[in-house]
Amino acid sequence: MRFRVRPVRRLAGTAEVPGDKSISHRAALLGALAEGPTEVRGYLEAEDCLRTIAAVQALGVEVTRKGPGHWRIAGGGATGLGEPADVVDCGNSGTTARLLAGVLAGQPFWTFLTGDESLRRRPMARIAEPLRAMGATVVGRAGSTRLPLAYRGVRPLRAIDHETPVASAQVKSAVLLAGLFADGPVSVIEPAVSRDHSERMLRTFGARVVTEGRRVSLTPGPLRGATLRVPGDVSSAAFFLVAGAIVPDAQVTLDHVGVNPTRTGLLEVLDAMGATVERQAAVDDDEPTASLAIASAALRGVSVGGALVPRMIDEIPVLAVAAAVAAGRTEVRDAGELRVKESDRIAALAGQLGRMGARIEERPDGMVIEGGARLTGAAVSSGGDHRMAMALAVAGLVADGETVIEDVACVATSFPAFAETLNALAGMPAVTVEP
Ligand code: S3P
Repeated sequence: MRFRVRPVRRLAGTAEVPGDKSISHRAALLGALAEGPTEVRGYLEAEDCLRTIAAVQALGVEVTRKGPGHWRIAGGGATGLGEPADVVDCGNSGTTARLLAGVLAGQPFWTFLTGDESLRRRPMARIAEPLRAMGATVVGRAGSTRLPLAYRGVRPLRAIDHETPVASAQVKSAVLLAGLFADGPVSVIEPAVSRDHSERMLRTFGARVVTEGRRVSLTPGPLRGATLRVPGDVSSAAFFLVAGAIVPDAQVTLDHVGVNPTRTGLLEVLDAMGATVERQAAVDDDEPTASLAIASAALRGVSVGGALVPRMIDEIPVLAVAAAVAAGRTEVRDAGELRVKESDRIAALAGQLGRMGARIEERPDGMVIEGGARLTGAAVSSGGDHRMAMALAVAGLVADGETVIEDVACVATSFPAFAETLNALAGMPAVTVEP
């Protein structure tokens, strides 16, 4: 499947983005472990989060779709899961593979996890090591560091204090979820604070979770079912925010977007680049949400590093598009994690955005982007990475001529209606989808 992208002069109107991917995964997993039913509205019905639903179903949990984005999970409590009859395929979803591993560490049976070609390349030692230290068995390929992996859990697990070298919400969440089955409180200490959706939702489900700076601790105890509403995904909104900043005549509003401060790095960076993101706070329940508005602006380069990086890690591909057309230089540091995402996003940006005329120099942990480029339509590829596909489409909106992006079926992992939503804002078929 490919996108054919035509340049546009104008973007206008209000759009809704689909439900938050991270929060949707967590709703399915915690709902499965809770006593009593959980009802979720706004669940992201994209491939990644449907993998998590299929996984909990394979573990014996009854899940019912009650309407669009509305799901009911009949939690069976801490002892409600059973051995799956087959290998569980996590598809492209790192969050499914890593968070589920934390749950499996506490299940006294064997579960086999695998994933697609991209996920089978991604590092799993970061979760296997702490889960093993807690007493779980994790065996598999490449010295038990890559999927397919087999898990056999025990109960109780040993409580640990885990100091992780990477700021990763997936690692933190895996240990916290395993902690539900531990013989005492578990803690995770991160080098910088990563997204805290697990902590917030665990509290909503009645767990005792305490956050002190970069340390999070959980005291084991039962979860009870909850009623949840998933906000729009700020990582999906990011594509329209950048498009709204760089298309010459644009005024875009995105409603009901999650603005959890551990996720809003891009909003601050766009402000620093000279585009104002106006926030109108909406509800402020467990996860804060807001309506976000942005208009065309003359952007300037920016420096991104340190604690800001985990707060916008998934937005760096589209930030690179903004940086390519901004005045001056942008530097991205401390972002080596980009090399182990759905693709090596540093190499992918230098290569693919480079084909369109962006001047990007790779660094081991980031990149330097010389702004002021005049982008030109080109034949490029997503490399099977959804965020690369959508970032390249945004670049195509401001390029001279047509851009053809190959290998875009992956967009369905997080944002199946991306092209439609963008075209509605453009008032024309800016992106056409070809088989
Ligand atoms: C996620 C955490 C991040 C992010 C991913 C979703 C999560 O990954 O890149 O898209 O839902 O916990 P890491 O934990 O590997 O940084």
